[in-house]
Amino acid sequence: MTRSADEIKEAVRDRYARAARQVRSPSDCCGPAAAAPDCCADDPAGFGAAAYQDLTPGEVPDAARLASLGCGNPTAIAGLQPGQRVLDLGSGGGLDVFLAARQVGPTGFVYGLDMTDEMLDLARANQQAAGVSNVAFVKGEIEAVPLPDACVDVVISNCVINLSADKPAVFREAHRVLAPGGRLAVSDIVALHALSDEERADLASWAGCIAGAITAEEYSSGLAAAGFRDIAVTPTHPAGPTAVSARITATA
Ligand SMILES: C[S@@+](CC[C@H](N)C(=O)[O-])C[C@H]1O[C@@H](n2cnc3c(N)ncnc32)[C@H](O)[C@@H]1O
Repeated sequence: MTRSADEIKEAVRDRYARAARQVRSPSDCCGPAAAAPDCCADDPAGFGAAAYQDLTPGEVPDAARLASLGCGNPTAIAGLQPGQRVLDLGSGGGLDVFLAARQVGPTGFVYGLDMTDEMLDLARANQQAAGVSNVAFVKGEIEAVPLPDACVDVVISNCVINLSADKPAVFREAHRVLAPGGRLAVSDIVALHALSDEERADLASWAGCIAGAITAEEYSSGLAAAGFRDIAVTPTHPAGPTAVSARITATA
């Protein structure tokens, strides 16, 4: 059985709407999907807030750190410079957006893009609490980014691209919005083997960042097909029996 892109998107949106609600009201949560596997359910080393152990207290809002559902720290590999424009694909509670905003400083700007209203509400509440002005959280899908061509210098993303049912569109859009020579710096889950249709049909596993993962070879060839060069996919830490976390870098 294969799942449609719409079915997958709804399962993903539902999972992360619940996750955002859980952060905002821990006692009011969350029904069956809360028991689904999550990208960082138990916060083992390298996942969720545990990937940010070097942060000093107060550097970012606590709520943003606690809402982290990533599988690495893309801001640690992006080499951000003051004045740069950055886009975070699937920005969730906003942790990487706030870290990037500090690195690019007041002359830079960071967009956080997410399709889930509850996550956008959480991120905007975190922004207000932190008083950060050089960021904007934008509603939209990473397969059709609502920003103009060549409008950013760096695209980051943390444990999101694996969730997309249309990865070629995501890679094309990342390339389109990057200025020529711009950099892609992503943390994501990479599969250790090509998954079967049966494995891919498990929606809870897809929303938990496993069933949608592609192999390192598929990641590299997908990025190359979209026009990226200097592509590197580097495993960082295990993510269960069928997958690893990886950092992925490329140049537009
Ligand atoms: C695993 S969470 C990661 C959030 C954040 N990057 C972090 O590290 O905490 C996935 C996020 O990506 C968003 N997302 C998933 N698929 C998306 C898509 N196709 N377009 C836009 N946002 C998407 C979800 O709403 C959710 O906020």
